[in-house]
Amino acid sequence: MENCGVKILGTGSYLPSRVLTNADLEKMVQTSDEWITTRTGIKERRIADDKTATSDLAVEAAKNALKEAGLAPTDIDAIIVATVTPDMFFPSTACLVQKQLGASKAACFDLSAACTGFIYGLACAKSFIESGMFSNILLIGAETLSKITDWNDRNTCVLFGDGAGAMVLGRTSGQKSVLSVHLGADGNYESLLKLPGGGSRNPATAKTVEERLHFMKMEGREVFKVAVMKMSEAAEKALEIAGKKTGDLALVIPHQANLRIIEAIAKRMALPAEKVYVNLHKYGNVSAATTIIALDEARKESRVKPGDLVELVAFGGGFTWGATVIQL
Ligand code: UT7
Repeated sequence: MENCGVKILGTGSYLPSRVLTNADLEKMVQTSDEWITTRTGIKERRIADDKTATSDLAVEAAKNALKEAGLAPTDIDAIIVATVTPDMFFPSTACLVQKQLGASKAACFDLSAACTGFIYGLACAKSFIESGMFSNILLIGAETLSKITDWNDRNTCVLFGDGAGAMVLGRTSGQKSVLSVHLGADGNYESLLKLPGGGSRNPATAKTVEERLHFMKMEGREVFKVAVMKMSEAAEKALEIAGKKTGDLALVIPHQANLRIIEAIAKRMALPAEKVYVNLHKYGNVSAATTIIALDEARKESRVKPGDLVELVAFGGGFTWGATVIQL
């Protein structure tokens, strides 16, 4: 497998059609379009219907990515789904996606790294392919965060949305797509962003449900500070590993949690606004699906072209963080 590299063969995304606007949220909790817009930059988000689970969104995104890659589901050797909202604890959402796609030859597993999940997944896919273990990998970031959102908690319910993005990766001996990946984590921050109920620490009971422990909790202000610092550092490290400079990048795709976080990172990296991709006004924070939905959109909108250098950088619960430099 000498000189074997990873090539991006296709990307795809899928967003549920139902739009929840800031005006809709004004009717649900004590908030305002003005507060949400100035504090976060979010205007609306997509919400899956009651019958739709994460695997359903993942399958649609995967079909789009496979179509672009020109591969059949049976060409896929492994499916990795990065998510914090699996259909259920087990079987993995990846197995459910495999079933729906008919990707009968694929090994399947889910990956839990919160909003950094897609970049962690990219590191796995790169290693699997470079080691020769797998040739074609379907990597998906998919979330239905609306299902773990406390719609009575204005601190969190205005921030998140549902959606999925997918990437098909294959082996190449030519121009590599994934030039570097840097990953990090610090479990000392575990309490600041979490879903406390339903796991082995607080198994689901009538009491945990009454205490609303089955919904996401976040100390936003604390998360904000560390997110800016760690994403800036991660972006720098991934560039360093790739042997590239900020000026070489055509576009940076930061995790879409808060416009003020994105602006702070852009300032630290001395990036002009046109080199920073923003779509959080339309979708809010879609956790593990965020960066791949944005990359797919940027490609389809021709914001980037083949050969361009793009950096993805993300941060999430754990805390986890990571960045990757890719060449399209
Ligand atoms: O994806 C993982 C990474 N996640 C993130 O990166 C999220 C990071 N955090 C953030 O984006 C921001 O901290 C938030 C958007 C969550 C909050 O913005 P903030 O500027 O840090 O506000 P704050 O938490 O300091 O709250 C300011 C005030 C509070 O009122 P008091 O205590 O000052 O009277 C909140 O109760 O704003 C109040 N508030 C709201 N008011 C209207 C909080 N949420 C709302 C709301 N509408 N939806």
